[in-house]
Amino acid sequence: MSHDEWWRRTTVYQIYPRSYKDSTGNGIGDLPGIIEKLDYLAELGIETIWLSPIYPSPQEDHGYDISDYRNINPEYGTMADFDRMLKKAHDLGLRIVLDMVLNHSSDKHPWFIESKSSRDNPKRDWYIWRDGRKPGGKAPPNNWKAMPGGPAWRYDPGTEQWYYFHFLPFQPDLNWWNPNVQKEMYDTVRYWLDKGVDGFRLDIFHAVYQDKNFKNNPFSFRVLPSENSTASLFQNHVNDLHLPETFELARNLRKILDEYDPPRFMVGEITATPEICHKYMGGAANDGLHLTFQFNFLRCRFNARQLARQIKHNERVFMHPALPTYVYSNHDLMRIFTRVSENWDKMKVLATLQLTLRGVPFIYYGDEIGMSQVKVKLKTSEDPIGRKFWWSPIKQSKYFAFAFSRDGCRTPMQWNSEPNAGFSPDEEVKTWLRIGPKYKKVNVAIQDKNPNSLLNTYRTLLQVRRENIALQAGSFEFLHESSGALVYKRTHPEQVIIVALNFKKKRNFISLASPRLELIFSTDIKAGETDAWKTDATLNLKPYEGMILREMQSGS
Ligand code: NOJ
Repeated sequence: MSHDEWWRRTTVYQIYPRSYKDSTGNGIGDLPGIIEKLDYLAELGIETIWLSPIYPSPQEDHGYDISDYRNINPEYGTMADFDRMLKKAHDLGLRIVLDMVLNHSSDKHPWFIESKSSRDNPKRDWYIWRDGRKPGGKAPPNNWKAMPGGPAWRYDPGTEQWYYFHFLPFQPDLNWWNPNVQKEMYDTVRYWLDKGVDGFRLDIFHAVYQDKNFKNNPFSFRVLPSENSTASLFQNHVNDLHLPETFELARNLRKILDEYDPPRFMVGEITATPEICHKYMGGAANDGLHLTFQFNFLRCRFNARQLARQIKHNERVFMHPALPTYVYSNHDLMRIFTRVSENWDKMKVLATLQLTLRGVPFIYYGDEIGMSQVKVKLKTSEDPIGRKFWWSPIKQSKYFAFAFSRDGCRTPMQWNSEPNAGFSPDEEVKTWLRIGPKYKKVNVAIQDKNPNSLLNTYRTLLQVRRENIALQAGSFEFLHESSGALVYKRTHPEQVIIVALNFKKKRNFISLASPRLELIFSTDIKAGETDAWKTDATLNLKPYEGMILREMQSGS
């Protein structure tokens, strides 16, 4: 493995371990299952794997409620399996990034059980306990709201105090003001780095610290959370989110990671504007989180102008040495293929965009074969958020890229047309979430054989990205923007690449004052067979075609 800042040029693939591959036949994905599929991932051509949490957990939020930070969920395997997975991944040239939930633990974590046991337990101060307001302390200590709505405090009748949680009541927030908590979590980070993991995805990082004096949040008219504002649920979260100490924590973690060779990286889950995300990355000093998720594509339809606006915003904010990320889907969001109305051609254009921008692309498992969002009943949802909102008449929204039950984007990976989609070796077993109903037509085995499939488009794109330094490290400049097309240039001292994307269902002719170009990729696999893709200085794009072109060096 090279020792430079490899993470700048990497491509990340997110695995939801419960849903990737079941090796035992119990209907739940596991680490030996992932090991089986590492060859598939190496062949796909992604470079880094981010695993959603694999630690012991009561699984009330499917791993985002950790009950032991330094072990493996027995349902998923053993530490020996983990070591085997890491070794095989590294042997194949793949990196492994773990999900680290610093903000909260499970309420079944022994620390919380102790903390709750009495007011003078030594672990009491590991969590955030406060007296209530009103006579008898029966009202929450202040007006802070949990992210999914409702008060962020839960009353404990045993010790007659309230504890704070930013997400769900079974996920009490750790008290980061306590130096023992800090030490424990830093040591945990080191524990996994010493084992050889290549980095971390940091869960709701912006929520780690809260105001020490527990001041109320001021009123705001905003209701829904969004990356455009720090306000939601009728309050501006100035006292419970984005505290100065959290930015400091980003820098402290960076110092720890910087001690390691080969370099490791962190990507922070931060729901905020690009400007705030950039601050978490250390701003101009660039000494904080290496990367943060940019979710600004989520509100974009298949719309060239909207996408261009967001790309320009990211280009402005994340200037070198900073780097943006591009995310279409994840385990919390509605799948991208459903958001483009299951249109294969549009999906190929978006894949071309994601893999040719200046930034680190994050691909969610199954997006490479066009898995759809599966409809689920909220009341019986595995996802606690789905059950919390069982009464809602609106179940999901393509525009906001959200679905109340996140089960719909977490269904088992569709490997083949066998019963259970080849996810589980036991064809009879009831998988933990139902298999997407389209699996007989949408799966890896079928797409593997079809050179024109989405899977093979991803494979080719990933290969083109790996083979062309300008796509990994070149600067970015728009050459053409209209509602019908985007054309941009990636420039590196060694080469210049031009990407042209047709967002219209009709032909598009774009003049390019560019020297000699060669076509190195098209979403139309036959495009290179004739010279029809270009006449003189004009690119001839077919409906929904995406092209990658290389400027030929003089003399070649
Ligand atoms: C964000 C994670 O992405 C989500 O899945 C989880 O439920 C919450 N954080 C709480 O950890």
